[in-house]
Amino acid sequence: MLREILEKRFTAKWWSDKPIEQEKLDYILDCAYSAPSKNGKYNYEIFVLGDSEKSNEIKQWLYWENTYCIGGERLREGPIGHRRYNGQVLAPTVLVWVAKHKNEETFNDCLVSSTIAMIASEEQGINTGFNGCLGEKETAEKLGRYDSSHAPIAMGLGYIDKMDDDIQREVYKDNVKYGFDYGNVKPEIRRGPNRVGKKTKDELIHLM
Ligand SMILES: Cc1cc2nc3c(=O)[nH]c(=O)nc-3n(C[C@H](O)[C@H](O)[C@H](O)COP(=O)(O)O)c2cc1C
Repeated sequence: MLREILEKRFTAKWWSDKPIEQEKLDYILDCAYSAPSKNGKYNYEIFVLGDSEKSNEIKQWLYWENTYCIGGERLREGPIGHRRYNGQVLAPTVLVWVAKHKNEETFNDCLVSSTIAMIASEEQGINTGFNGCLGEKETAEKLGRYDSSHAPIAMGLGYIDKMDDDIQREVYKDNVKYGFDYGNVKPEIRRGPNRVGKKTKDELIHLM
């Protein structure tokens, strides 16, 4: 049942090396391709970053140079050690939605398509992590789109390495602590800063 699948979902951040099976990826992309689009415009593209040299270079760039934040602000100046990274962009497969124009209509289309990809993945037993914290223009350019294109959303897909009890894990490079990221934390654990704000069902849904 979809409800049970979604109730078990969490934002995955830390991955095993195991790649997604080709037939599962094909299924996920077919589902994303079936997404509706306002007025049928489909003014976006989906880039699939896998294990090629180019893909890995873009993932590393996204992770270390483009998506970390301090105090919720992307690429904020501050001492190394306090950055909060976004491990979603290091997943075995990373999907990046690139909108041809920066407007609400296209942004909505990207979110509909990416949500369908998330559901299709979770249905296949693949973990997912949305990432909306990225340099939209720079990422589109990194993918070879130098016109008015912007990348509003990316999503990591794969199998996690392990679940965490702690709500965060530290991030090191060359034995230096660069910061941290949230862990792979079960949905029942509500104490993380990204979880405490969730409203109750009655606060969120109003039967009129
Ligand atoms: C559109 C969208 C963008 C998101 N962007 C980010 C992001 O950039 N970084 C991040 O750590 N989580 C991101 N998330 C994940 C949310 O923070 C997460 O879903 C929420 O905190 C609840 O946690 P859970 O998914 O583990 O239940 C995003 C979620 C959505 C729906």
